Amino acid sequence: MKPVRVGICGLGTVGGGTFNVLTRNADDIARRAGRPIVIEQVAHRSIHPDCDITGIKATTDVFEVARNPDIDVVVELIGGYDTARELVLTAIDNGKHVVTANKALIAVHGNEIFQAAHEKGVIVAFEAAVAGGIPVIKSLREGLGANRIEWVAGIINGTGNYILTHMRDEGRAFEDVLAEAQALGYAESDPTFDVEGIDAAHKLTILASIAYGVPLQFDKAFTEGIARITAQDVEQADNLGYIIKHLGISKRTEAGLELRVHPTLIPKERLLANVHGVKNAIEVMGDAVGPTLYYGAGAGAEPTASAVVADLLDVARDIATDHHYRVPYLAFSGVGQSANAL
Ligand code: HSE
Repeated sequence: MKPVRVGICGLGTVGGGTFNVLTRNADDIARRAGRPIVIEQVAHRSIHPDCDITGIKATTDVFEVARNPDIDVVVELIGGYDTARELVLTAIDNGKHVVTANKALIAVHGNEIFQAAHEKGVIVAFEAAVAGGIPVIKSLREGLGANRIEWVAGIINGTGNYILTHMRDEGRAFEDVLAEAQALGYAESDPTFDVEGIDAAHKLTILASIAYGVPLQFDKAFTEGIARITAQDVEQADNLGYIIKHLGISKRTEAGLELRVHPTLIPKERLLANVHGVKNAIEVMGDAVGPTLYYGAGAGAEPTASAVVADLLDVARDIATDHHYRVPYLAFSGVGQSANAL
């Protein structure tokens, strides 16, 4: 069967991971997709990308990939807001499907991007944008599709959880553990996004949009990070029987939908208190299913690549069956509906 031809924009931590997973597991992926998924072109800035691109067409211009007539799917892994927005809109305009791990882009420009994709009849998939390798978007959208979602709460920033875990376990200073998380490739290029709660607010915005079927409304989220938490705070909490975790919480209230991201004292015996290191965990309450839990690696090259490649598999299957107009790829069901109107 005709291969799906992919252009990867950005070969940093996640781009390199995606390249390597697609290459290493090519046979299994082709079997599952019903056709090969091949890397047609890569765009990268660094002289030494995190993978061996020998024999692959390469460019430093991401827009070349977005306009390449030999490419079916553009994988946006450059991060950030503005260039990524332009890149994705250019790809859509050129009839390409898009897979992205960029939560900032989806949270802030998602409504515009989904509208453009809808008009053009292409897919925009973004499983990797929330909670790294955990398939929580697909679970909310597909597995829990029958439910009225009451609330979603969880640890959705791996860097923050890594920092809090090591501060508590080893009594280390905040800055010291942050530097380690950066070296491991967990942190954003601007780590203030991780430690000020912005990254978690991006992800919560996306989760809420899918859970409740409302447009993305990042500016409505209350956002507080962990940057001012000291080793003494962590120790005091411990003495009182609590563990400090940074949570994203969204729930229905009488006044409408509530979105908040902040440090929380959790009793030691509770499940979320026992999620350590770079792991994420998300609890979702559905009216039919009751409480459910999603747990796994929330950041890192191959865990995040796992979600990117899963989206490529979805795109490959959808192209084959010509289902790519289907609503599950749109994050919202009513443009203009207010979060407070729930
Ligand atoms: N900086 C993010 C985190 C990467 O630490 O969770 C994954 O989204």
